Order: sequence, then C-alpha cells, then structure tokens
Amino acid sequence: MNNDFFEVVMRQRACRSFSTDTVDDDSIARVLSAATYAPSAENKQPWEFIVVRDDATRAAIGDLSLRAWEARGRAFSEGRLTPKMLADVDQGATGGVANAPVNIVVCADVQRGLDATIPSSIFPAVQNLLLAATALGLGSALTTITTGFRSEMQALLALPESVWPIALVPIGHPARPLGPPRRAPFTEHTHRERYGRTW
Ligand SMILES: Cc1cc2nc3c(=O)[nH]c(=O)nc-3n(C[C@H](O)[C@H](O)[C@H](O)COP(=O)(O)O)c2cc1C
Repeated sequence: MNNDFFEVVMRQRACRSFSTDTVDDDSIARVLSAATYAPSAENKQPWEFIVVRDDATRAAIGDLSLRAWEARGRAFSEGRLTPKMLADVDQGATGGVANAPVNIVVCADVQRGLDATIPSSIFPAVQNLLLAATALGLGSALTTITTGFRSEMQALLALPESVWPIALVPIGHPARPLGPPRRAPFTEHTHRERYGRTW
C-alpha cells in the first residue's frame, strides 16, 4: 500500500460496511495518537475519545442511529443524495456503522474551550483520525447522526454533563474495496486574488 501523504488524503473516504475482522489496540492507539496532533483553539485539546468494542453498547448506539435515521434522516436525505449514496448512508445508519468492530465516539469537553470553537477544535482531530486509519488500511467514516441524542449517549457511555458527543467514527476492515472518492477539481472552487478570477 502506498502511504505517501497525498495518496492517503486522496484515498480517504467513508466506509460504512465492515468485515468481522478485529482491529488490535495498537492500531487504535496509533490513530488516536494521530488525532491528538491536530490543532485546537488555544491548544485546549478539548477532545475525549470513547473506544467502544462491547457488542451491547455498539448495538445501543446502532439503535440510536436507526431512530434518528427513521425519524427524519432518511426522509430528509431522499432526493438530496444520489440513489447510490442514499443506499450507502442507509446501510450505515441501519447497522453498518454500529457493526464495525470498533466505534470511536469523539467527544468534546465543553469546559475545555470556548463555545464558538468547540466543534472546530474537534473536527481537525477527527480528520487526522480518518487519515491515520486510511494509512493503516482500515475503513472509517465521519458520522454525526447519533450526536443529536446527547443525553442518551451520555447515559450510555457514562459521560459527564460537560462531555458532549460530536462524532461517531466506526473503525474496521472494509467489507469490500471502497473505490476512489469523487471530488470536483480544486480549480472549480479556487480563485486568484478575487472571487471569479479562475486558477
Ligand atoms: C459533518 C459531517 C457529518 C457527516 N455525517 C454523516 C452521517 O451521519 N452518516 C454518514 O453515513 N456519513 C456522514 N458523513 C460522511 C459524508 O457523507 C461523506 O464524507 C461524504 O459523502 C463524502 O463521501 P466519500 O467519503 O465516500 O467520498 C458526514 C460528513 C461530515 C463532514
């Protein structure tokens, strides 16, 4: 596998279907260590990571995901996503994500940061985590659908009141090859000096 930085960045994409192969703690430690090298406002590093392997806990997270998806997520997404992507997200929300051998719940301790910068201090760490997982040949995805159930997630994971779930990242071995991500060329959205002056 080519682990050149640019190759990893351009290979990273959402994986929502995993094989039953396990992921060892050393690999999880490496991706979490990479996550903690991210920038954060005032270097407060407000992240807390809950690494969930327990079947019952992952099933409970999966139930929350299913509730959110069936209550409003699917209806909202129909017509907005391509049929293929809708099917993929549907697959993830109805068990694919929770069935990954490891679910990492990325949380923010809102006492360790300013309200205005909490999410923007967490997502760079999530991106590092995704890239590190990709470099190790693991599948992962940034998902947020369960984070609307803050109090349920807090109860399930024994989170203190000030620790809020921000993202749920499944980690495992992809059930099938992901294929390349589809992105518009950067030149379509890049301007020289002023908006409208194309690259
Ligand atoms: C803020 C944010 C929230 C997301 N939430 C979800 C989610 O709840 N469920 C999901 O399956 N994917 C979620 N995604 C993943 C996106 O669907 C994915 O990054 C995008 O469609 C690109 O797909 P690709 O990685 O396959 O190229 C989220 C991505 C971001 C940036």
